[in-house]
Amino acid sequence: MLDEHTFDKRANNAATAPAFLSVWNIEAYYGESYIVQDVSFNVHEGEILALLGRNGAGKTSTLRTIARMGNPELRHGEIWLDHKPLHKMKNYEAAQAGIALVPEDRRIIQGLTVEENLKLAQIAPPVGWSLERIYELFPRLGERRTQDGSTLSGGEQQMLAIARALARDIKVLLLDEPYEGLAPVIVQEIAKTLKIIRDQGITTIIVEQNAVAALKLADRAVILDTGLVVYDDSAQKVLDDEALRAKYLAI
Ligand SMILES: Nc1ncnc2c1ncn2[C@@H]1O[C@H](COP(=O)(O)OP(=O)(O)OP(=O)(O)O)[C@@H](O)[C@H]1O
Ligand SMILES: [Mg+2]
Repeated sequence: MLDEHTFDKRANNAATAPAFLSVWNIEAYYGESYIVQDVSFNVHEGEILALLGRNGAGKTSTLRTIARMGNPELRHGEIWLDHKPLHKMKNYEAAQAGIALVPEDRRIIQGLTVEENLKLAQIAPPVGWSLERIYELFPRLGERRTQDGSTLSGGEQQMLAIARALARDIKVLLLDEPYEGLAPVIVQEIAKTLKIIRDQGITTIIVEQNAVAALKLADRAVILDTGLVVYDDSAQKVLDDEALRAKYLAI
């Protein structure tokens, strides 16, 4: 459960509030291609932030930069998580600091069961959620614990990818297009689960082509356009503003 203090931080979106995750003026490159161009935003503890924008706007590149994937290369700016300088870290150090990126292709390990996929995530300490807690949140995964992870349905694979992140001791969940290719009923099921995960204290950034679904889930939205932030405010305002949606999201 979120305490009062956390709720205060979520409600108070003032620039002066110390943010849990701060992205300050980051610039990132693929070779000489300048992709993430001076992007800044804050994410408060226990918040769900929707990071939106058209194809090629730089959403995946921004998530990869925060997770310190090495490619794209961060050449300018700072990223702070809970007072720790992520911008100075390598990928495994960012992971140890509590960042988990669930990539678009989900990367479920073929030949391993659901449970083996989860146990593999728990090999290196610090360990996060127990298998019992994970199966309580994702009963479908509990039912299929002995099934090869790669034979799960698309929705179940997405659940496993999220569960695998929680099996590590994480603070921030970065989701790249978690709803891709999923039926609306499964999208709703995953959204419900992401709200429970939020209410248990995990901070989330969701990148999604299904902008309406992401905006309904999120507390706040940041919109990117060709590597720049063009909107940073409440998610509901974007849902309410047809002109803004048409301009930056083409919906
Ligand atoms: N490995 C790479 N090497 C060179 N350029 C890249 C690489 N990956 C992405 N880009 C370019 O960086 C820009 C931003 O790509 P990115 O994948 O971050 O966008 P996106 O907002 O996630 O798009 P989409 O909605 O299509 O997933 C694009 O112009 C893309 O072509
Ligand atoms: Mg992308």
